[in-house]
Amino acid sequence: MQLIDTHVHLNFEQFQPDLEEVRSRWQEAGVVRLVHSCVEPSEYLGIQALANRFPEISFAVGLHPLDAHKWTSQTAKQIESGASSSDSVVAIGEMGLDFYKADNYEQQHMVLEKQLEIAARLNLPVIIHCREAALELKRVLEKNIELYGERVRGVMHCWGGTPEETQWFLDLGFYVSFSGTVTFKNAHAIKSSATMVRGDRLLIETDCPFLAPVPKRGQRRNEPSYVRFVAEQLASLRGETLESIAATTTKNACDLFGLKL
Ligand code: NI
Repeated sequence: MQLIDTHVHLNFEQFQPDLEEVRSRWQEAGVVRLVHSCVEPSEYLGIQALANRFPEISFAVGLHPLDAHKWTSQTAKQIESGASSSDSVVAIGEMGLDFYKADNYEQQHMVLEKQLEIAARLNLPVIIHCREAALELKRVLEKNIELYGERVRGVMHCWGGTPEETQWFLDLGFYVSFSGTVTFKNAHAIKSSATMVRGDRLLIETDCPFLAPVPKRGQRRNEPSYVRFVAEQLASLRGETLESIAATTTKNACDLFGLKL
């Protein structure tokens, strides 16, 4: 069985002490590829070093909406030159809107639009972070699809939306990625959303070190091997086998990010 964890942050300090052991566990769990996300372009060299050390890692470059205040006149250039200078870069992001933890709406919008433009120009998929902002995000993506057509494509990562919101993004051609939150007991809307995503749009991730899935929820640190629990939850919710979820989500990750097994 082969799994792909489509969203990790292994450069965070939580993984410094024992990353080799963490890697052994993801290999044992069948995780064959990982897509490393990026919250700000200054992480680029550190993430690239991880990708050199562990060839199963590909990565993104971008600026997270909660770091939107860090955008400077240099940031677009940093993202674009970073993305163009390594074959391991497979996406722009993470980018998006987060109105749960911040209210700098205009700055977040500007930073999102700039990155969507870069991704369209480089013809790379985007990794979207969306919290309490689904309607706004839908509008922004619709506008960019009008401008750039099929070059605007990507994934709604760590998805937490309602079935109605999920349908909006499926209609725009986006993939939907479920994390440990789909295993949480009271996550009724997320579980419903997980049953309605078409097989060819479904992805899985851990978003580690955050959001460890049940049955590891009490642990302080999430890790890529736990993506298996997300896959198991999707299998149970959708009435499929674990092997079928693994095969489907692995193929989808390869299609979206251009990964080769
Ligand atoms: Ni993330």
